[in-house]
Amino acid sequence: MSIAKSEYKRVTVKSLIDMKQQGIKISMLTAYDYTMAKIIDKAGIDIILVGDSASNVMAGHETTLPITLDQMIYHASSVVRGVMRSLIVVDLPFGSYQGDSKMALSSSIKIMKESGGHAVKLEGGSEISESISRILTAGIPVMGHLGLTPQSIYKFGTYTVRAKEEEEAKILLEDAILLEKLGCFALVLEKVPAALAQKVAESISIPVIGIGAGGGVDGQVLVTHDMLGMTHEFNPRFLRRYRDFFTDMTDAFTQYSKDVKSKDFPNEKEQY
Ligand code: KIV
Repeated sequence: MSIAKSEYKRVTVKSLIDMKQQGIKISMLTAYDYTMAKIIDKAGIDIILVGDSASNVMAGHETTLPITLDQMIYHASSVVRGVMRSLIVVDLPFGSYQGDSKMALSSSIKIMKESGGHAVKLEGGSEISESISRILTAGIPVMGHLGLTPQSIYKFGTYTVRAKEEEEAKILLEDAILLEKLGCFALVLEKVPAALAQKVAESISIPVIGIGAGGGVDGQVLVTHDMLGMTHEFNPRFLRRYRDFFTDMTDAFTQYSKDVKSKDFPNEKEQY
């Protein structure tokens, strides 16, 4: 049975800012396909991120760098078809916006036109301010991303906690203030000390969504496959696992294989 339009209220960039003002925490998870997005939306998650983590989780790459704009659009359009309420944010992949602001704008327009997503996310601060402004002039909502920025992994060399030193923390805070000033509607803060993340959240009026950034921010995001325990070799301190699907799914596949080989499946009732 389909749900009547009046039974749900779509999350918008405006409602997220209202949530921050009212002290209501924002929930966000990643999705890359229709089926997962549909379940996440049904569970009432506020934001679905079509993250470039698809490069790791879906394609098995070591970094987020290889995924292309067209591949992101494929994932995002699958997600869009499964969602009625959540706000859908799509990552601009590596190489699709770093060139110049014209390139950033045309990649964002392509995402919005071809996927039906509601906003884009890009990594960086002052160095991409021109691109952010240009995307915003086209009426495309922009989410920022500071702290650990996986697209710059080869510049930093590790995935360790960022902005532990005073100088880096100062730049991060300045970047967050700049992103708000430019017009970003929200900001992801990845793997930074909890005290700094809280200071950032208290210094700006747009929502700060943390991953490995403690509880003093306005919302939390996790990679869905990590929180479901499907990627069991990935064990950062910030990750809470809500299920052990790696084990559950392995058990199910093993049982299926046994049933096929023993001729237990299909039985009399499972055939025509
Ligand atoms: O791509 C992604 O999944 C992300 C989250 C980790 C925030 O950017």
